[in-house]
Amino acid sequence: MTTPTDADQPFRLLLTAGPTHEPIDAVRYIGNRSSGRLGCAVADAAAARGWDVRLLLGPTRLEPADPRVHVERFTTVADLERLLIRRLPGCDLLVMAAAVADYRPAADQTDPGGKLRRTPGDLVLRLEPTPDLVAGCVSRRREDQLIVGFALEPAESLLASAKSKIERKGVDAIVANPLETMDAEGIEARLIGAPGTPIEAGISTPGKIAKTEFADWLVDRLAELLDDRHPAAARTQDADA
Ligand code: CTP
Repeated sequence: MTTPTDADQPFRLLLTAGPTHEPIDAVRYIGNRSSGRLGCAVADAAAARGWDVRLLLGPTRLEPADPRVHVERFTTVADLERLLIRRLPGCDLLVMAAAVADYRPAADQTDPGGKLRRTPGDLVLRLEPTPDLVAGCVSRRREDQLIVGFALEPAESLLASAKSKIERKGVDAIVANPLETMDAEGIEARLIGAPGTPIEAGISTPGKIAKTEFADWLVDRLAELLDDRHPAAARTQDADA
């Protein structure tokens, strides 16, 4: 038996998808409308190519169809942060498709085991900012790891926002999609790379395509990015195909 070299190993993709739910009390939470459909489709598309896929999936009814995808569930930003700390070292590529809450109820505002009661007058709930998880991963990553974020923005400011997010978060690339993507069946997106990379100007999908088609398109682009970083591993995959 021979010991596999790095070049024999499939790409290891760590992917996050779905919404976060931040509890207010035992029955209420602050969430968002992300379905996780896109992330599940990307997980399936990558697993179909023989990649080793770990999907960190938020509270959604959807799941990837491919049984080879390793699924771990999270509910809150803090859960996801713990999973990312544990799983980041074991991946070649992190894709942050999760719709992570930017704010959560401050700890002293919540009643985790009980239920907030109706009282006369307004209820003011103070929110605190959550940590920027993808930026945290960038600060802990190894040089050989690629990190790709998502940006959901109004169509008119898509490109400018994506570029500023690449700079602010230190990611290698951003998948920029217009706001209407959330909940929608189809997607029209642009993958934009960090300054100095071959995809700095961005690559667009061929018009509006189904999310499963988009997943295949994105995995092709990610394979090209990984190919630049791990040419030996990519060549082996091509030879096996
Ligand atoms: N993200 C994250 N941690 C957060 C918020 C977002 O890791 N607390 C990640 C998302 O998973 C996504 C990327 O950052 O990959 C961009 O998310 P987005 O919500 O578009 O950006 P924000 O950081 O929230 O910036 P803004 O509110 O200015 O749009």
